[in-house]
Amino acid sequence: MCGITGYLGFREAYPIVINGLQRLEYRGYDSAGVVITNSKKETNLYKTKGKVADLRSIVEKNDATGNLALGHTRWATHGEPNDINSHPHTSNSGKLVIIHNGIIENYDSIKKELTSRGYTFKSDTDTEVLINLIEEVQKQNNYKLGKAVQMALTNVVGAYAIAVYAIDKPDEIIAARLGSPLTIGIGEDNKEFFVASDASPFIEYTKNAIYLDDEELAIIKLGRNIRIRKIYDDSFVEPTINALKLNLEQIEKGGFEHFMLKEIHEQPHAISNTYRGRLLADKGIIKMGSIDNNIAKFLNAKRIIIVACGTSWHAGLVGEYLFEDLARIPVEVEYASEFRYRNPIINKNDIVIAISQSGETADTLAAIKLAKSKGAFVFGICNVVGSSIARETDSGAYTHAGPEIGVASTKAFTTQITVLALIALKLGNLNGELSNSAFQDYLYKLQLIPKKIENLLSINSKIEEIAAIYKDAPNCLYLGRGFNFPVALEGALKLKEISYIHAEGYPAAEMKHGPIALIDESMPVVVIATKKGHYEKVVSNIQEIKSRKGKIIAIVTEGDTTVKDIADHIIEIPDTEEALSPLLTTIPLQLLSYHIAVMRGCNVDQPRNLAKSVTVE
Ligand code: F6R
Repeated sequence: MCGITGYLGFREAYPIVINGLQRLEYRGYDSAGVVITNSKKETNLYKTKGKVADLRSIVEKNDATGNLALGHTRWATHGEPNDINSHPHTSNSGKLVIIHNGIIENYDSIKKELTSRGYTFKSDTDTEVLINLIEEVQKQNNYKLGKAVQMALTNVVGAYAIAVYAIDKPDEIIAARLGSPLTIGIGEDNKEFFVASDASPFIEYTKNAIYLDDEELAIIKLGRNIRIRKIYDDSFVEPTINALKLNLEQIEKGGFEHFMLKEIHEQPHAISNTYRGRLLADKGIIKMGSIDNNIAKFLNAKRIIIVACGTSWHAGLVGEYLFEDLARIPVEVEYASEFRYRNPIINKNDIVIAISQSGETADTLAAIKLAKSKGAFVFGICNVVGSSIARETDSGAYTHAGPEIGVASTKAFTTQITVLALIALKLGNLNGELSNSAFQDYLYKLQLIPKKIENLLSINSKIEEIAAIYKDAPNCLYLGRGFNFPVALEGALKLKEISYIHAEGYPAAEMKHGPIALIDESMPVVVIATKKGHYEKVVSNIQEIKSRKGKIIAIVTEGDTTVKDIADHIIEIPDTEEALSPLLTTIPLQLLSYHIAVMRGCNVDQPRNLAKSVTVE
């Protein structure tokens, strides 16, 4: 969590860094800060509790000129979000500045040691400890800054992406990472450089970027090629310069009031992008290099273990139904945070699939490392290109959903399901569990999904009306069965995280084992009752709710007449195969949460206490 960015070059640094922070704000928004140094080595540091906009209004009344700057937007870990704990932090001499994303776990013992040597601390943060450790290492050994940072980091336990500079050397930034992402943008002829948690702060300036790897430190000096060293063994690393495909429109709101709404509406396009070049309906095949290259492993897999967190975990649950139904491969879906601390039984014939939008989730990353250490083949499904998970896995498939900026995941979910469906269909067809004709039929129907979502989005205003009725409900239940049980969980998560209404998702039949006690005339219950999915059973569940006076919002297949007579509200979705229906049933649930949150005056794109990229455990 936390977003960091910096600039070193010939332009005014502050406007670049503050705009960059705005783009990185999805990573944390408890507080923000910026430090700027000019060629006369004059330095100004501003920080404040609150959002980047609050910081902007403070800085703009003051001096912010200079060609070197670092900025930070924080999701608090150590120390409450206040002005003092905000980054950047300075060393005791005032000469070194740092921004940091991550956690220094052994900061307390380092702090005690530094205190005994006379250091004092203004904040409660682990980061201020780190910058003083760097200062102490430099002082003791008379090291150059790069070496001092490197040696200090060998004493640190935890995770970090950092950028550091010395105000008396305003032509150099030292950047390093372990466990938190860091990207370096390189301007023409090494006349300017950018550092950032992702490439969004600098895409209008350069398309050339280096993704720093774990345990790497970069010395970024004006007019010179970047030098990268391994922190622990001091070896040199030849930098790989990647060409960025991201563009500015992708990270702007494009006329929508919120990123979440934009991203909900982007789903038809995002899903088409996910299957483009993979689903070749005219040839009757699914082509996925990452599966084709490892096909023996997949076809011989005795079991698939899916690890993920949050919404990605819900996509994994849909994956379980897909793999078991279409390819008859047993699947276990694990919370990455639980999996990593158990002693899981992993056999060499198991395949582990890790799902992550950001590709940076700390628990998922740790689960991958554990699975690899036990000899498993790990396949990643990520959205962010070049992310840590994408690089840590043995192979993988990108979702190609485009940047997801709203903190609540929407298009990531449906595109993850699309990748899982492609893999399950391909394996099912190859292992003989899915006949050629059924396979062809699925290809055809999957290709129709984007158009169907487009049509479905036109019921937005109807969903807004339903939202207006239930916006003040204190609780809400979501029920679904089979493929749509995970959608019920996802619907509940969406509502609670952005509107702060307490919501729970259940398999519909579980209702009578407890949750039914909650139902009375004030309880809205969202029920997914698609025609091909245990329909009669779900209709019985709806009756049970009705007889207890619960308010029913039913998601049904177009043309449904039975539920219409019982439910208080009907939302119709186009017909498709039940296995593909989560791609459609999810859409109205996303819109319902969105409208309720807006009507309650909540910040839908930046819900309280959350951050987009959970890089701490
Ligand atoms: C919910 C949400 C989170 C993420 C979770 C995993 O809307 O966004 O639950 O799904 O933090 O994140 P990724 O997919 O980046 O690993």
